[in-house]
Amino acid sequence: MRIALSKGKLLAGSETLFKQAGLPFPAAEGGRKLVVEMGGFRFLFVKDADVPTYVEYGAADCGIAGRDVLMEAGSDVYEPLDLGFGRCRLVVARPTGSSFAFASASTVRVATKYPKVAAAHLQGKGLSVEVVRLAGSVELAPALGLADCIVDVVETGRTLRENGLEVVEEIAASTARLIVNRASYHARRDEVARLLRTLQAQAAA
Ligand code: PRP
Repeated sequence: MRIALSKGKLLAGSETLFKQAGLPFPAAEGGRKLVVEMGGFRFLFVKDADVPTYVEYGAADCGIAGRDVLMEAGSDVYEPLDLGFGRCRLVVARPTGSSFAFASASTVRVATKYPKVAAAHLQGKGLSVEVVRLAGSVELAPALGLADCIVDVVETGRTLRENGLEVVEEIAASTARLIVNRASYHARRDEVARLLRTLQAQAAA
């Protein structure tokens, strides 16, 4: 069973879940090896945003990805289980006290790691949207005049606060999800079902 895991924020939660469920998980001091075989699993450590791609194309049978990443990727995968950890919110935020108002604006420039979600959300409000795609540290953009607002995930809210931003509205709540390749779901039915049962029991505990 090949399982794609995020090297980012979801890694610690994935490790806790697997260990509590009595499943193998590579030691954190495993160095920089991106593929680790252990106890019948082949673990692939990839960038958060790439987990759905590995699973969709069948390079991995399963993966753990945030709902935020899945919304942006729009990949054709099964999403059978909400794992409950990695809770965060995908939001629109703007400089605190800014006079910028969506209701009166006709065009908005938004900086984000989530270009599709951001464009769809703001266009849905009848706005004309210019998306400035960034790979990280998105909270810097409004203060530097790069954007009117950002669309990003908020967990504790600290990054927004410390960079003078406030939430305008929530687009979606997000948690980590188990995703499964469509062909693997059928071809490896028993193994997938066993993994699902084990993780589901632990996620609900
Ligand atoms: C994420 C996100 C925010 C931050 C939110 O960034 O993009 O910047 O975490 O967390 P908080 O609400 O607890 O402060 P990440 O740490 O993944 O780094 P990045 O900005 O380089 O993507």
